[in-house]
Amino acid sequence: MDYKSTLHEIKDFLDSYEGIWNKEIIYNYPQTLDAYDHQHLDLLDRLTHDQLWKIDARFDFSPIKDTPLLSLIEKTMSFNQIISPYHPTKLDLPLLAFTRIKDKKHHELDNLIPLIVEQKKHLNFQSVVDIGGGVGHLSRILGGYFNTPSACIDINQEFLRQGEINSKRLHPQNAHNISFYNFDIKKTPTQDFNNIKNLFNQNTFMVGLHSCGQLSSKLLQAAVYYQVKGIINFGCCYFKYDQPQYEQLSKAAKSNPLLINEQGLTLATRAHTYISKQDYYNKYQVKSYRFGLHLLLYEMLGKKAFITMGDCPIRDYFNGFSAYALKKLKEHQITHRLTHQKIDDYFHSVSIQKQIKRMFLCNLIRWFFGRPLELYILVDRAVFMQENSYHTTLSHYFDDKISPRNVGLLGTA
Ligand SMILES: C[S@@+](CC[C@H](N)C(=O)[O-])C[C@H]1O[C@@H](n2cnc3c(N)ncnc32)[C@H](O)[C@@H]1O
Repeated sequence: MDYKSTLHEIKDFLDSYEGIWNKEIIYNYPQTLDAYDHQHLDLLDRLTHDQLWKIDARFDFSPIKDTPLLSLIEKTMSFNQIISPYHPTKLDLPLLAFTRIKDKKHHELDNLIPLIVEQKKHLNFQSVVDIGGGVGHLSRILGGYFNTPSACIDINQEFLRQGEINSKRLHPQNAHNISFYNFDIKKTPTQDFNNIKNLFNQNTFMVGLHSCGQLSSKLLQAAVYYQVKGIINFGCCYFKYDQPQYEQLSKAAKSNPLLINEQGLTLATRAHTYISKQDYYNKYQVKSYRFGLHLLLYEMLGKKAFITMGDCPIRDYFNGFSAYALKKLKEHQITHRLTHQKIDDYFHSVSIQKQIKRMFLCNLIRWFFGRPLELYILVDRAVFMQENSYHTTLSHYFDDKISPRNVGLLGTA
């Protein structure tokens, strides 16, 4: 697959909509709204919440059929086609193998373990190193049922301690196959990875299942540095970079970078997450309070510069707007003479409700850009591996309703 041309294609598309994806609606209000086409917003404004939910959940676009808005949405979704499908072989593992494993992790392992077992046959590697492996379920299953020496590396000593107990208890015969190492991959220079043990070499297969932000980049760079036999990596939490900006990995992307800031990276992280009807209505409630508070700060209290007001427990969004707003103003020591009545009258006024809805609709459009942003990051990583002579494929390994960060990068020597 020619990921390099895809990288340029996604960049060209995203460049034209930078004002949408790199800026949350409430930052730099009201200028942020200028990035949205008024005809798109007017069209959405005529729909019911039920219809909006189906669009947001991406399963029924009929109310906006044959419109420029649908063409734009389809374009944001079209880049998914570059991701190959993956059909795992079924492994008949006993239920005991999944002791204390939550459904999401169970699903991920059901799909990932067959891949690693298949790759072992093709590549003939000798051991697996799972980085950021948590309690080491993956290493335990590979070592316990497939006689594959597997090491789990994690920064969290407590996870590793629990993992060691589990593997000795569940696999007393094969526990020697499973090892645990406590180190900070991000802070350890790549050339020192083998200081404790020679884990990284040409007979190693590396795994990074949901390696946050920069950690994924470090793993891919380490894979190349040690010339490992193969690597499977899933990114997540793309906003976790030391700098509040995405750092390109491939030469192709570095020479003409897409500048994704923290807001863009947060959007990429949340992309493609299934939204139920209840989730949609909760989102509307939460957003209307948050947007309402910012409008109140902007219009009633003259705070024109954006102030981060932060999250709050979900119940606060359901206990009346004035109670929420007064709590937030107190928390941020913002002086005012507003009463419950005045705040509620403002919030429930027709013009404010209309503006809140408008902002919500902008946000609904904005979320469609999350997936192409995420794919840009993943394709940049794929191009980096290709530039370093690895056969590289991006595939959908998990059901996105269960595990939305479901695109894995497989690189093999
Ligand atoms: C999102 S979790 C994924 C855990 C596991 N791979 C899984 O899929 O269940 C990220 C893991 O990476 C570990 N981690 C985070 N930063 C790390 C670092 N700098 N070095 C090593 N491990 C790290 C965390 O402790 C956590 O277990």
